[in-house]
Amino acid sequence: MKIQQKIPCIVLAVAMFSAASAVAQTSLVSAGGQGELNAANNLQIAAPADPDLVVGNDACVKCHASEVKVWQSTPHATTFDQLHRKPEAKEIATKLGLRSIKHSGRCVACHYTQQSDHGAASSEDAAHVIAGVSCESCHGAAKQWLDLHHNYGGESVTRLTESPAHRAERISQSIRAGMRNPTNVYLVAQSCLRCHTTADEELVNVGGHSAGSLDFEFVSWSQGTIRHNFLQSDGKVNGVRSAEHLRVMFVAGMIAELEASLRATAAATQKAKFGVTSAQRADRAKKRLQSVAAKVSDPILQQILEIAGGVQLKLNHHAELNAAADKIAALGYEFAAQNDGSTLANLDAYLPQTRK
Ligand code: HEC
Ligand code: HEC
Ligand code: HEC
Ligand code: HEC
Repeated sequence: MKIQQKIPCIVLAVAMFSAASAVAQTSLVSAGGQGELNAANNLQIAAPADPDLVVGNDACVKCHASEVKVWQSTPHATTFDQLHRKPEAKEIATKLGLRSIKHSGRCVACHYTQQSDHGAASSEDAAHVIAGVSCESCHGAAKQWLDLHHNYGGESVTRLTESPAHRAERISQSIRAGMRNPTNVYLVAQSCLRCHTTADEELVNVGGHSAGSLDFEFVSWSQGTIRHNFLQSDGKVNGVRSAEHLRVMFVAGMIAELEASLRATAAATQKAKFGVTSAQRADRAKKRLQSVAAKVSDPILQQILEIAGGVQLKLNHHAELNAAADKIAALGYEFAAQNDGSTLANLDAYLPQTRK
């Protein structure tokens, strides 16, 4: 893959990729240095959409018809009809002793969107799958943010006349209500990496599922087939992002990959494919960020690297690895909130040119 050849260039400029075993470092991270985890941090760990709060894509189409149309042709939508028919999927399910793919929480977590059946007789049957990877898989279950995310503050107020203060407050309210609002690209990058990093040891080691999309890269994977940037043009044109915006996404994606692969490593208990792959991926994500940090000057990246350098990538190291991932999540959010990309121009030569 072409884009992926780009990233290793900057990695190699700093250090050769090393195996998971080589990553123990004596580092001087002091956790106190990067500030308290704020209340919003609880919301910053990506998770499957809560079936009780899922409203379904039908609730978006009235205002986002163009976005829904793009989505319908992506693998995220088509997996709904296809996955359970695939022999590879049946094989994984058999190895894990699962009777149904669409009803197993194990697969639903990443392949489907579930919605609660209110009034169901038993809690066992209380939810059913309504779609593959849907709007809410990436943007968060919408029940609590649906009304407020487009409320400009009065009948006569429009997108153009809304005050900046109202806009900022509306967006922050939507995030507090569980929206993965792409105004902060870290929130959506986390969604991708939650699914595209398989943090389930048995699924990989016993089921034979892939350990994740090892060639995932946020810019190239989000700006190709799944791109749906219609707000600027009121639904008419699927817009292309500015270089500045793509730079922020590029780095945010790397931070999210580090966070997700630390969480996967945290789930490792055996020296086998899952643990080794997860730790190697975390190490690689750290090295990529080191390369980036050497090219741009950014104190948040330095803090992230200190945290990553201060935790060992080893088995049964659950609490420490997850604690590091939590801190990195908060910093990733800050990075995306504070950066408009104007100081990241040195990265342009490394931005992927191909779009998946
Ligand atoms: C009643 C109309 C309406 C409905 C229904 C609606 N949206 Fe929106 N949405 C908007 C408007 C208007 C904006 C632009 C807000 C702005 O100017 O920032 C928006 C913006 C967004 C954004 C970009 C973030 C932002 O704040 O600009 C996302 C993501 C989004 N909507 C997702 C959804 C999803 C997912 C659904 C269904 C669960 C949905 N919307 C339903 C009107 C709607
Ligand atoms: C942590 C998220 C996650 C979980 C849990 C998960 N998958 Fe996947 N799966 C993915 C992603 C992401 C892909 C895309 C391919 C890749 O990069 O690994 C995928 C790909 C696949 C594929 C190959 C793709 C294709 O369409 O041919 C099969 C088969 C599959 N998954 C079956 C399952 C089954 C069966 C389960 C439940 C036992 C399951 N998956 C659970 C994330 C997950
Ligand atoms: C809820 C889990 C989930 C989330 C969130 C998610 N994906 Fe996926 N994605 C999948 C699965 C599963 C597949 C494979 C579907 C299949 O082929 O059956 C996939 C496939 C893809 C593909 C097609 C890959 C190929 O080889 O053609 C792209 C591109 C992609 N995802 C990009 C993204 C991006 C970018 C994000 C975040 C903005 C994201 N995904 C978020 C689960 C997810
Ligand atoms: C695979 C994950 C994923 C899915 C599924 C997804 N989105 Fe998005 N969405 C994103 C990402 C990533 C961005 C930010 C992209 C960027 O900044 O270039 C985004 C941006 C948006 C925006 C703002 C775009 C703009 O013009 O500024 C809207 C509105 C939106 N999504 C609505 C939806 C709706 C409605 C659905 C369901 C039909 C949906 N999204 C499904 C990941 C996803």
